[in-house]
Amino acid sequence: MRRTLRALLAAGAAAIAARADPRATYLDASAPIEARVGDLLPRLTQDEKLSLVGGDRDFYIRPIPRLSIPEVKMSDGPLGVRNYGPSTAYPATVGLAATWDAALARDYGASVGRDARARGVGIVLAPAVNIIRVPQNGRNFEYLSEDPYLSGVFASQIVSGIQSQGVAATVKHFDANNQETNRGTIDERIGERALREIYLPAFRAAVTGGHAWAVMDASNRINGTYCSANDWLNNKVLKGEWRFTGLVMSDWSTTHDALGAANGGLDLEMPKGGSMSPAALRALLESGKVSQATLDDKVRRILRLEIANGFLDRAQESSSTPKDDSKSAEMALRIEREAVVLLKNDRYALPLATKRMKRIVVLGPNADAYPSGGGSSRVEPFHYVSVLEGLQKAAGRRAKVDLLAGAATDDEAQSIRSADAAIVCVGFNEGLEGEGNDRTFELPAGQADLIRRVAALNPRTIVVVNSGGAVATADWIGRVPAVLQAWYPGQEGGKAVAEIITGAVNPSGKLPLSYGRRAEDSGSFGNYPGSNGRVDYAEGIFVGYRWFDSKGVKPLFPFGFGLSYTTFTYSKIVVDQTDDGRRTVTFSVTNNGNRGGDEISEIFVSAPVLSRVPRAVRELKGFCRIGLAADETRTVTVVLDPDTFSYFDESKGAWAVEPGSYTIAVGSSSRDIQLTAPVDVP
Ligand code: GLC
Repeated sequence: MRRTLRALLAAGAAAIAARADPRATYLDASAPIEARVGDLLPRLTQDEKLSLVGGDRDFYIRPIPRLSIPEVKMSDGPLGVRNYGPSTAYPATVGLAATWDAALARDYGASVGRDARARGVGIVLAPAVNIIRVPQNGRNFEYLSEDPYLSGVFASQIVSGIQSQGVAATVKHFDANNQETNRGTIDERIGERALREIYLPAFRAAVTGGHAWAVMDASNRINGTYCSANDWLNNKVLKGEWRFTGLVMSDWSTTHDALGAANGGLDLEMPKGGSMSPAALRALLESGKVSQATLDDKVRRILRLEIANGFLDRAQESSSTPKDDSKSAEMALRIEREAVVLLKNDRYALPLATKRMKRIVVLGPNADAYPSGGGSSRVEPFHYVSVLEGLQKAAGRRAKVDLLAGAATDDEAQSIRSADAAIVCVGFNEGLEGEGNDRTFELPAGQADLIRRVAALNPRTIVVVNSGGAVATADWIGRVPAVLQAWYPGQEGGKAVAEIITGAVNPSGKLPLSYGRRAEDSGSFGNYPGSNGRVDYAEGIFVGYRWFDSKGVKPLFPFGFGLSYTTFTYSKIVVDQTDDGRRTVTFSVTNNGNRGGDEISEIFVSAPVLSRVPRAVRELKGFCRIGLAADETRTVTVVLDPDTFSYFDESKGAWAVEPGSYTIAVGSSSRDIQLTAPVDVP
């Protein structure tokens, strides 16, 4: 009896001794992060380490109470903090990219970070930055662009914004989650040059530029190995070349074997330690197949993220930030105002002169709706503004704005015919576009027919499209004078779209992706969705406009295209260089119209004609967004990155620069080049 008592007392004393020592370095917020991590790691028992590398309760990292380590709460996602009830629903990030407004992207990230803190969330599972390779991909709306440079700028800025609020960002899905069809098993065969030049850059920017604290592996395989066990991807490239010091988590239930994941660079298996379970890891450690150093590195990365983001020093929940924050709503509105792309505006159909109008009719499945793609990024808002409501508010004092169920009956036809304008809101929504399935290129059944019917009744028919990217337009676009690409507009979207339709806001968005005439025009066509479990990225680097340009295929609307209610002209290009050798492009832009507007200027670089390897006709290497009052001229300078002229030489397994005469072009789209200048690269 006495011995048992003694043993119990000894165990109790040990446990108490192991309790958090308030004087311990790891609890000292003023101590360097690495010193704190180094002090904490050895205090964990092996069981605690083994438990930490598997998630808990679907969206948590376990706490270790005896060491005062709190649980860490996660939440999706790219369109807002969606997991814990209603939240601010921002426009789809493909729309954010359509703003070409890097500063706005950072502000957006900070807004999401504030929303996260209001809910005690420590890790946001965003941004999602995969390249838009396939127009029908169900998750394009959560992504950014077909271009790696534009994607990288936005990825980096969103990460910086989120993390400025004491919340860790998780850049996903690493890598090449470019289709939802068979996403959990598909084996993508991608050449290293295409990986390096197209599919990796946005992640590199998020990690090396934005300093993302977390990366989420994709569910697919790349060149035969699942991303969650991909040593080349996670260890060689991410942790080796890019010196990533944060943690790599799996996508949910996409880890397939403990050994591959443990040695392939996975640090945290979500939603739980199913493959990398404590028992499986213990066996692998005992057999020597996984080293203790490997396990310790995983735990160190998790502890580093927690310490660096202050999770041990303060409460993660910020009670001073409202969950339904008006500042966040304002951000959602600001983004959509800049995201909408005016694709067509014949005969100045827009803006509507509502002062002279008596009645406007609004139709279509998305007219009185909150459209947003489905899946883990879908946020249910506290409130939203539909296009109908937005127009009623924007034009309602002057013109009557009525919702019509369709254009089939005589009284509907009469109502449309007699209206001053007809707005047809079409596209997709949850269940038609979203995670888990790819969508059709064609609009959902009946929508093209509805557009044609309305256009036959009213010459001022305006089409508003909600989608994550290009849709089929061939059998209706010629019958309407105006088309707006509104993406998924977020909770304030109806207000923004109405402000653009009525002219209160001048549209400025430009396409971050090509709008092909047909699905067949895309570079991925014929190499999607793959067969026998495998898909070949045979187009290599020729994705999006790179494909259209190299094949001489004319897109319906090119990458970087968007109209305004005013017009801009360009002049006086000068190419120079900074003291540290980076090229600079200086040029002037004039607003020729009678109203203010923002112009997005795009800088493209073309390699020498006689190049050693196949090169894209032109590649985006810079951009800027310029606000100009009527008749105003401004001169701007864009500084290009040091690697502007590089390509990846597969024969050397390294980046290279070919000497020769390059062309720097300034365009208002990739197909509307305004200025060019030669540049000799030694
Ligand atoms: C899903 C998604 C991922 C999301 C996660 C948690 O599988 O692919 O983007 O963050 O699960 O919801």
